[in-house]
This record gives sequence, structure tokens and C-alpha cells, in this order.
Amino acid sequence: MNILLFGPPGAGKGTQSSLLVENKGMAHVSTGDLFRAAIKSETSLGIEAKKYIDAGELVPDSVTVGMVEEELIRLKGKDIILDGFPRTVPQAEALNALLDKYELKIDKAFFLEVPEKLLMKRLTGRRMTADGKNVYHLEFNPPQQEGVCDVTGEPLIQRKDDREEVIATRLKAYEESTSPLKEFYKNQGNLVVVEGVGEPSDVFDRIASELV
Ligand code: AP5
Repeated sequence: MNILLFGPPGAGKGTQSSLLVENKGMAHVSTGDLFRAAIKSETSLGIEAKKYIDAGELVPDSVTVGMVEEELIRLKGKDIILDGFPRTVPQAEALNALLDKYELKIDKAFFLEVPEKLLMKRLTGRRMTADGKNVYHLEFNPPQQEGVCDVTGEPLIQRKDDREEVIATRLKAYEESTSPLKEFYKNQGNLVVVEGVGEPSDVFDRIASELV
């Protein structure tokens, strides 16, 4: 089964993806993680993407769609979670074309619903390892030792785009470009709205109950 997770910044897409990988053995494709890895390796895609990400804006569709196509080819045969892609209606249309091309389908499109006030709190308090693999929250999921990863012992960092002024731009980009996807997937008949508030394990149970 292939699914996608969408919702505003901080809705818990990455957190739920990790739980799905751990408990359901699914393969995780996060366009945000792919861009951050490309930025770290200073590839031409990374250099292009960095300008947009640091400003809280969306990376152009042309760059993003090609990157996802490579992942669909690489992971063919696995159950895939698309996290943070598509994020615009043109991306959703491009995804449908890719799904046709590779004879794949998205069984369910999960929209994680979280009130805006909580999003700001989640994002400003997020801390992570430099590779983004271990994610914490100063209040909701603090590490045992302040500023240090429980798993690897590395220092925790704050994402550049998790500063309050950049978050405001990301939320605006979400409202303008991503929120219309709710209507898109509703019309397509595979939208599932999930309440994203509560313990991560409770949100996970809500998602897992739909994966039958
Ligand atoms: P991306 O990395 O995808 O960022 P995002 O969509 O803004 O989402 P986040 O990663 O910030 O949040 P999340 O929903 O994963 O929340 P998380 O689980 O970490 O994209 C970054 C940038 O890349 C974009 O701004 C754009 O520039 C570019 N980009 C990416 N994809 C693109 C695309 N398709 N097209 C164009 N540009 C693209 O949780 C957040 C915090 O809350 C954590 O600290 C966590 O511990 C905590 N938390 C999570 N769940 C709960 C809970 N249930 N209760 C309490 N705390 C919780």
C-alpha cells in the first residue's frame, strides 16, 4: 500500500512517517529530507533549493518532481510513504502522471489536521540531529540530557527555517499552495482526514486503523 502524508509545517508528518517505517516497514520519501541532504552535499540541486528553503518558500515544482521520480524508481516494489510531496496542485497532477507511468497508485492521502497555534509551538521547540534522523521537542519530547541526542550523543540543532519569522512564511505558503490539495484528494476519493493532536502514538493508531 502506498500513502501520502500532507498537512501544514509541524503537523507531525515526519514523526508519523518514522512510526510507520518502524511499525509497518514502509519506505519513507520526504522531499524536505532529500533537499536537506542535497544542501549538505552541496550538489547543484542543493544549492538551488537552499535559497528557497532558508526563506521558507517552496522549491519550484520542476526541481521537486524530478527528484521524486528518481525515488519512485529506486523504491519500486516497496510500500511507500510520500511525506511533504505533493505540496501544490501542479505537483499532485505531476504525481498522478508518474503513478500512471510506473503503474503505481496512492491508496490513501492522509491530511494531518492541527490548529495553527500549536504548529508554531511545535516548530519553534523542535530540535534534531544534524542529519534530521532523530527529532525532539523542548517541551513535548525532550532528550534526557539537554541539547544532546539520546541515541547518538550528538549535539542537537535547530533547523534554520524553524525560526519564528521563517515559520510565518512557511505557513503562508502552506495556506496558499498546499491546502487546496484537500479538495484535490477529496475529489479523487482517497482523502483521509486525521486529527493530528494528542500523543504521537495516538495519532499513529488513527492512521494505522486506516491501513487495512
Ligand atoms: P519539510 O521538511 O517537508 O517541512 P514541513 O512540511 O514544513 O514539515 P516539517 O518537517 O516542518 O514538519 P512535520 O509535519 O514533519 O512535523 P514533525 O513530525 O517534524 O520541508 C522543508 C522545506 O523544503 C519547505 O519549506 C520547502 O521549502 C521545501 N520543500 C519540501 N518539500 C517540498 C515540495 N514538495 N515542494 C516544494 N518545496 C518543498 O513535528 C514537528 C515537531 O512537533 C517535532 O519537534 C515533533 O517532536 C513534535 N511533534 C510531532 N507530533 C507531535 C504530537 N502528536 N504531539 C506533540 N508534539 C509533536
